[in-house]
Parts: sequence; structure tokens; C-alpha cells
Amino acid sequence: MPEAVPDRPGTRGLPDLRALVAGATAVLAEAGVPSPRVDAIALAGHALGVPNLVLAMAPPLPPDFAARYAALVERRRLREPLQHLTGTAAFRHLDLTVRPGVFVPRPETETVAQVAIDAAQALVAGTDSSAGVPSAAVVVDLCTGGGPIALSVAHEVPGAQVTAVELSPEGVALTRANADRLGLAVRVLAGDVRDASLLAELDGAVDVLVSNPPYIPPDAVPIDPEVRDHDPDLALYGGGADGLEVPRAVVRVAVRLLRPGGTFVMEHAQVQAAAVRVDVDATGAFTDVHTVADLTDRDRMVVATRR
Ligand SMILES: C[S@@+](CC[C@H](N)C(=O)[O-])C[C@H]1O[C@@H](n2cnc3c(N)ncnc32)[C@H](O)[C@@H]1O
Repeated sequence: MPEAVPDRPGTRGLPDLRALVAGATAVLAEAGVPSPRVDAIALAGHALGVPNLVLAMAPPLPPDFAARYAALVERRRLREPLQHLTGTAAFRHLDLTVRPGVFVPRPETETVAQVAIDAAQALVAGTDSSAGVPSAAVVVDLCTGGGPIALSVAHEVPGAQVTAVELSPEGVALTRANADRLGLAVRVLAGDVRDASLLAELDGAVDVLVSNPPYIPPDAVPIDPEVRDHDPDLALYGGGADGLEVPRAVVRVAVRLLRPGGTFVMEHAQVQAAAVRVDVDATGAFTDVHTVADLTDRDRMVVATRR
């Protein structure tokens, strides 16, 4: 645990923040936390009520700081996700509330959201080249979790009409709470992508369908304790031997809901790129089926256009 060190002149008996952060960094590194210093600073900022803490500009430390900080660092040492401890996750331009029981949004999904946002923005700006361009973009985010993609589209594409669908009641509640807090208009529905009548009122009327579904196969249990022990199984495992049962259901919904010329984008694991392209191609409903890489150059999503 981080240890208090002798006072610096002028700190009036309070522990030195830099030394506490250095101690916490060593503790977290020893526990195998991937970004120990970043996490140590984030937890100090959380304990101080300063979200983006710059150590040199830290406010005076309250008397109980060292004990509260030590408790947070201990939980992180035991590999509770940083976002569960701070209660927030940054996603694109939004700070989203995060709760245990709902998948923590990941940076790679920001690239998936980007494709959906670009397609929706092109429609709203009237720059889409397909026939019969609508003036507003109808966007559906399936398996929305706590809503990062849907909320980002609503935030970045003001003309978009966004519907988010999620199976878990915890995810539905969290997406609604995030939308309310951020003042973003997103229709949030409890629903199952395997339901053949899901969103039937939007058949053939959707411009952009985006999804980050569960896709991990049953025999690929994640190594990181933050994921394995804290993300819900419903959010991780996609079903079937290859983990692609739920993603295939998402593809079926996309075939039904997208209008001709509409854009489909779905995240998958790096090793699933070819298999997912085959699945999407096999529907016969899409053209320009291709794989797009994330910012680390890994093949992480399929993108296609509805015929
Ligand atoms: C990998 S998480 C992604 C959540 C969110 N899209 C994100 O990027 O942070 C997958 C989500 O799909 C939901 N889910 C799993 N099976 C589903 C189904 N059959 N229908 C709808 N949602 C489902 C899970 O509860 C989970 O929230």
C-alpha cells in the first residue's frame, strides 16, 4: 500500500501527493495493472474530486485523503476495473456513468462509432450519394450496453433519430440515466436481437445500423481479471462454438431494418474478420462488405452497404 512520507516544508502535516502516487504506482505495477501510473493518478483525482488531475496543480489534501486513497488503490490492486472505482468512462466526447453489471465501454469501439457517425452525418449534411436521401438520419444501435455508441451519435449528429436496444435491464436503465444526465434524445428499448419482430415498425427504414455485440467464443475466456470477473457474461460471450450466434442475429436484424443504401457496421474480434465477412456476404443483402481496422491497426469491424 502507498505509505505516507515525511512532510515537505509548507505542507502542514499533510502527506505528499507525489509520493503517495508514486507508491500507488509501484503497488499497481506489482499487481500487473497495465497502466499503473495513469490509474494511480486517476484514483487520486477521484478521491480529490478532480477528474483530470494534474499533480502539480493538485488542491490541498484533506486529512482523510491518504486513507481513502489507500482503500481505492487496494481495490484496484485486486483488479477491480478503474471505471468501476471512478464511476465514469470517457468515450469519444462524453463522460459516461459506468456501473458494475454493465459492460465498460472500450476505446476500440470509438472507431466503430466513428463509422456510424460519419454515415449519419453525411445524410444529415445531404452529402450521401445513395438515392432518395432523407433529411434526418435514422440510426439504430443494437446491444447498446450503457449506450456509448447511441449517445455519441446523438451528441455528434444533432439531426439523427437514434434508437438503442439492450437485453439487460441494467444496461437499459444505465443508458436512460446517461441520456437524461447528458440531455441527449435517444429512444432506449429493452429487446433481444434474436426476436424476429424486433423494431418491426422500422423495417426498411433505417439509414445506419451499428452494433458492438457480445462475440467471445466459450473457450476464449479473457485473461484480464477486470474483464473476466467484472464484465457481465451476457456482454462477453456471443453464443455458439465460435461466439458469433448473437452477431449473426444482429446481421439478420440489419438485413430487415436497413433501407437500400443504408450502412451496417458491427464490431468483432480480430480473428473473426473473415468469418463475419462470410456471414454478411451469405445473406446476399449487402454490397461492399469489408473489414475496417481500429486505431491499433487490428481488424475489428465489418462495414457493408444494404443493396
Ligand atoms: C460487448 S457489450 C457492448 C455494449 C456497448 N455496445 C458498448 O460498446 O459498450 C454487448 C452488449 O450486448 C448485450 N446483449 C447480449 N445479448 C443480447 C441480445 N440477445 N439482445 C440484445 N442485447 C444483447 C449485452 O447485455 C451487452 O450490454
